[in-house]
Amino acid sequence: MSAKWLLFFRSFLFLTHLAAFSTPIHKAPALNGTNVDRLALLAIKSMIKGDPQGILTSWNHSSTDFCQWQGVTCSPRHQRVTDLNLSSGGLIGTLSPSVGNLSFLRVIQLFNNSFSSEIPPEIGRLFRLRQLRLAYNSFTGNIPATIMNCSNLQVLNLGNNNLVGKIPDAIGSLSMLSILALPSNILQGGIPPEIGRLFSLQELYLFNNCWKSGLTS
Ligand SMILES: *[C@@H]1O[C@H](CO)[C@@H](O)[C@H](O)[C@H]1NC(C)=O
Ligand SMILES: *[C@@H]1O[C@H](CO)[C@@H](O)[C@H](O)[C@H]1NC(C)=O
Ligand SMILES: *[C@@H]1O[C@H](CO)[C@@H](O)[C@H](O)[C@H]1NC(C)=O
Ligand SMILES: *[C@@H]1O[C@H](CO)[C@@H](O)[C@H](O)[C@H]1NC(C)=O
Ligand SMILES: *[C@@H]1O[C@H](CO)[C@@H](O)[C@H](O)[C@H]1NC(C)=O
Ligand SMILES: *[C@@H]1O[C@H](CO)[C@@H](O)[C@H](O)[C@H]1NC(C)=O
Repeated sequence: MSAKWLLFFRSFLFLTHLAAFSTPIHKAPALNGTNVDRLALLAIKSMIKGDPQGILTSWNHSSTDFCQWQGVTCSPRHQRVTDLNLSSGGLIGTLSPSVGNLSFLRVIQLFNNSFSSEIPPEIGRLFRLRQLRLAYNSFTGNIPATIMNCSNLQVLNLGNNNLVGKIPDAIGSLSMLSILALPSNILQGGIPPEIGRLFSLQELYLFNNCWKSGLTS
């Protein structure tokens, strides 16, 4: 009797043990990298209020393979978003800070749309980023200083927006930069000498800003 009882008690302990260990495993499939990317893309879509060409129609909850969504390119191996190309889409809205969660991104192209409000500083978390092309939109505010953390950046084109403030001195730390285009904004404060440290620079466009004195062109 007592032996049977002991056995019962032991298996009870074993089962609670098993339950204790299996509960978190059961809850775990929460957020692997693939899900992080999917949620970030849906967050980006949620901030876009106008989409006259229906470019983001394929971006929906029922369609799970976001690598097939229009404008999205993934790495074949990891199935993580590497390119986001929504150029000339007629899109109206703001850029969600969740773009900074797409940690495999190498190229962001939002050229020629109607994005307004600020460029999210979270872009500075994208250390693999090589190209940031946001020209011909209505972005406002400063050039986020955090972008200077994207040390692999080769192309930075923020031209034809409504950006104000100074070019951050830290621009000189973008040692891979080959194209820097910031024309037709409302930038002030002159051209930082740190630009002279950009040894890879091949093209520089800064015309049509509010440089009071010194270099303009
Ligand atoms: C990520 O989790 C989802 C379930 O939420 C699963 O379908 C998918 O295979 C997982 N991907 C990886 C790479 O583990
Ligand atoms: C993006 O990441 C931040 C911080 O890691 C998190 O709080 C937020 O929920 C994420 N956004 C999405 C849409 O997953
Ligand atoms: C969701 O996207 C798929 C294509 O990826 C499309 O066939 C389907 O019609 C879309 N659903 C809605 C409700 O837009
Ligand atoms: C980006 O998308 C536009 C419109 O779909 C297309 O014309 C252009 O070739 C694409 N650019 C790249 C680099 O994929
Ligand atoms: C800008 O996008 C619109 C569509 O929204 C297109 O008609 C126009 O040709 C594009 N302009 C350039 C210069 O790409
Ligand atoms: C990025 O830049 C900001 C401000 O320039 C700085 O505070 C931060 O420590 C940098 N590093 C990361 C990983 O964001």
